[in-house]
Amino acid sequence: VSVQLTKSTEKIGVGLIGCGTVGTGVVRLLQEQAEYYAKRLGRRLELRRVLVRDPSKPRCNGMVDRALLTDDFESFIETPDMLIVVEAAGGRGLVSGYVRGALDAAKHVVTANKSLLAAEGAELFALARKRNVAIAFEASCAGGIPIITALLFGLAANRIEGLYGILNGTCNYILTEMTQRRKTYADALAEAQDEGFAEADPALDVSGCDAAEKLSILASLAFGAAVETATVACEGIDRLDLSDIQFGAELGYEIKLLAIAERSQDQSRSPATTQQAKLSLRVHPCFIRGDLPLAQVHGPFNALAVYGHALGHSMYVGRGAGQMPTASAVVADLLNVASGWYPRAFSEMNVWLDQQPPAVLSDPDDLTSRFYLRISARDVPGVVAKVSAILGQEGISMGALLQHEVAAGQFVPVVIVTHEARQGAVTRAMKKIENLDVVDGSPVCLRIVDLPAG
Ligand code: NAP
Ligand code: HSE
Repeated sequence: VSVQLTKSTEKIGVGLIGCGTVGTGVVRLLQEQAEYYAKRLGRRLELRRVLVRDPSKPRCNGMVDRALLTDDFESFIETPDMLIVVEAAGGRGLVSGYVRGALDAAKHVVTANKSLLAAEGAELFALARKRNVAIAFEASCAGGIPIITALLFGLAANRIEGLYGILNGTCNYILTEMTQRRKTYADALAEAQDEGFAEADPALDVSGCDAAEKLSILASLAFGAAVETATVACEGIDRLDLSDIQFGAELGYEIKLLAIAERSQDQSRSPATTQQAKLSLRVHPCFIRGDLPLAQVHGPFNALAVYGHALGHSMYVGRGAGQMPTASAVVADLLNVASGWYPRAFSEMNVWLDQQPPAVLSDPDDLTSRFYLRISARDVPGVVAKVSAILGQEGISMGALLQHEVAAGQFVPVVIVTHEARQGAVTRAMKKIENLDVVDGSPVCLRIVDLPAG
């Protein structure tokens, strides 16, 4: 690496871009734990400059010397002896230019910015390689959980079969509040924003886009194939109906926004194959059995269940959003970069997101799953027979049926749980059911995800 971090360097200069929720947490840790980090590293991490949009704004409860603040990138990047730049600003545009500028100036970069990495990771990593510096990005996925380290290093011996993650703290918080405390979607979202979990634009959270960006990064690392976020089939929680959450609970299921990356089923049966994985990539609300460990992950917590061919199932749980949990991951990256091991591992273990072949995707219609269907049907003779005839024509078998009593002739929600069925067949059946004269509106269709044994 071009920036040698040797034991003789007494202080390691750090620059910070962005001093909002995450940046403030980083400043706090660097101050409060200064002695502890110095003892562990054998050197001091010293905050040399902080780049923000508005240097006159009060911030960090006076923890940052005002003289360190600037809104001028040129003077920021020219700060003497600044070896590492932490980017905690978020978004792309100007911030992308700052990160590129930092790499170009041969600074190691630590970033929490999944949007930037998901969209521009390949170019940034190529630039980092050219300049012999590292990009550390633990905080970009699943907040404080060290999942990047686990995938890159701890699980390095494994061929990964599947990832099943709760990767957005805001959505998990909202779903928990709606399910357990009967809060409205709007109230729960406002609380998540107050707590600092949500993105500056919370539409990124509730649309599933944030989780899709994280999944594209994690899947690239896990499967060694470049995953573009646009190829992740994505549905958010913004159109979920509380009645479905309640029907699901009645049937023993918990609603979760899951981010899933798995090898196509035929490939995962032959772990020895060297052919490139065909991947199914998706983010969507779904039901999982209430007794599964993932179902017990509530509030702003995130979790990732990983299936490795040697290890089998392992699961990583922790706070996925918020000031100090995210700062925990950022500062861990800082320490790992400052100690020199991460830059070395980065160059020697081929941790380069720009050198992977594009991911090969499986056909979404071939995906098999159980499904939860809710149909608003008029309560008259023969309705269920008509619905089940359509399902039968498409080869879909019913596993459970739930209907609460209403006055005869009224519209009533009819809930059906299917046995395993192909996505394509279910989509066709839903269209036919929607056209029945006894059915009101579009049926609701949610997947029921059965996690692999292991
Ligand atoms: P935030 O509270 O909105 O803070 C953003 C900070 O960046 C502000 O200090 C802002 O300056 C500064 N900034 C924004 N654009 C800038 C620009 N063009 N030039 C200079 N400074 C700029 O955001 P956050 O919640 O801390 O999130 C930061 C990053 O961490 C994002 O990438 C986010 O996705 C990621 N992240 C957040 C969490 C979380 O729980 N919040 C968790 C994991 C990852 P001003 O203060 O002057 O406006
Ligand atoms: N907005 C994100 C979330 C922050 O709610 O999970 C962590 O990336």
